[in-house]
Amino acid sequence: MSALPTHAVELEGLTKRFTARGMDENGGRRRAVRREITAVDHVDLQIRRGELFGLLGPNGAGKTTTIRMICTLLEPTSGRVRVWSHDASKAPASVRRSLGVLLMGERSVYWKLSARENLEYFAALYQVPTATAKARISELLDRVGLTARADDLVERYSTGMRQRLALIKAMVHDPPVLLFDEPTTGLDPQAARNIRDLIRHLHSSEGKTIILTTHYMEEADQLCERIGIIDNGKIIALDAPQALKRLHGELPVLRLDLEDITDGVEPALRAIPGVTRVIVQPKGTNGGGYEAIVHLSDLRETLPKAVETVSRAGARVRHLQLVETTLEDVFIALTGRTLRD
Ligand SMILES: Nc1ncnc2c1ncn2[C@@H]1O[C@H](COP(=O)(O)OP(=O)(O)OP(=O)(O)O)[C@@H](O)[C@H]1O
Ligand SMILES: [Mg+2]
Repeated sequence: MSALPTHAVELEGLTKRFTARGMDENGGRRRAVRREITAVDHVDLQIRRGELFGLLGPNGAGKTTTIRMICTLLEPTSGRVRVWSHDASKAPASVRRSLGVLLMGERSVYWKLSARENLEYFAALYQVPTATAKARISELLDRVGLTARADDLVERYSTGMRQRLALIKAMVHDPPVLLFDEPTTGLDPQAARNIRDLIRHLHSSEGKTIILTTHYMEEADQLCERIGIIDNGKIIALDAPQALKRLHGELPVLRLDLEDITDGVEPALRAIPGVTRVIVQPKGTNGGGYEAIVHLSDLRETLPKAVETVSRAGARVRHLQLVETTLEDVFIALTGRTLRD
């Protein structure tokens, strides 16, 4: 047995150029043209063993192309992919054994077979011993709530059920690295939540290394330890979600609507570590009262402390509102565009 790698996935100068054929209108005459598209542009990335990493970017940013190169479905134009210490160009079979992949929009299971038959088939392909496969398949089906329907044909499944099956299909051979391309796209909110719970479980309880792609900033924010924001094939920001928001956006701001106030409120708020700025001013409207605007350096610790401090200082809180930065703000700050246009 060789030692476990420090990095589960390493990308070095990874680049993919496509030549797209299209038609061009030129002075009323149509002609065939070839256009070069750099879908992935010199991406350097190291994913720690056990990390839950998100690749966030708008349509066409290069997310799927990156995933396809990591799982050896697509050959890079230049650059290098290593998975679990195996070089994808020299040892593609070892790379494939080390990872499981769910690709968006790809029909990855047979609709004329049942879920269980599909899983048994793929387990056999990966040469998982029969007894091991049987136990693992039952456990996986159970985990995603498909046990009762496991022997139905997949063609009778709903979209969400197929997505859950595709997800566990990626895991029949129990690989250490999982690649999920848009795992919740097209699912209803409940089904999407279940998938996110499963991903969290795989990460925290099973120690899997997970790379997921998404264009949902909330999903990346809630789920991932670290996020790479990708745009036009380039990683334009790379950090923990909280750090990205702190660096490129405004800090969270608490607005308190106070009924009555004492002189002690403002200094008490200022004294809280984690409060970076306090403004207390009369509201000046008919209702009277005051407004306190409190800038926080974090939410978990400082927010409850701020609210408690205000009450203890003798002010009555009528209403409170939190204005928080999102990863969308980060993307806008970096590109001048929104994630969804
Ligand atoms: N086989 C191909 N031939 C030509 N161009 C391609 C091919 N595959 C992808 N592209 C182009 O490469 C770019 C990146 O595509 P990719 O599918 O990686 O984006 P994405 O980030 O996954 O987008 P989405 O959020 O829409 O899934 C796009 O401009 C796309 O049109
Ligand atoms: Mg894609």
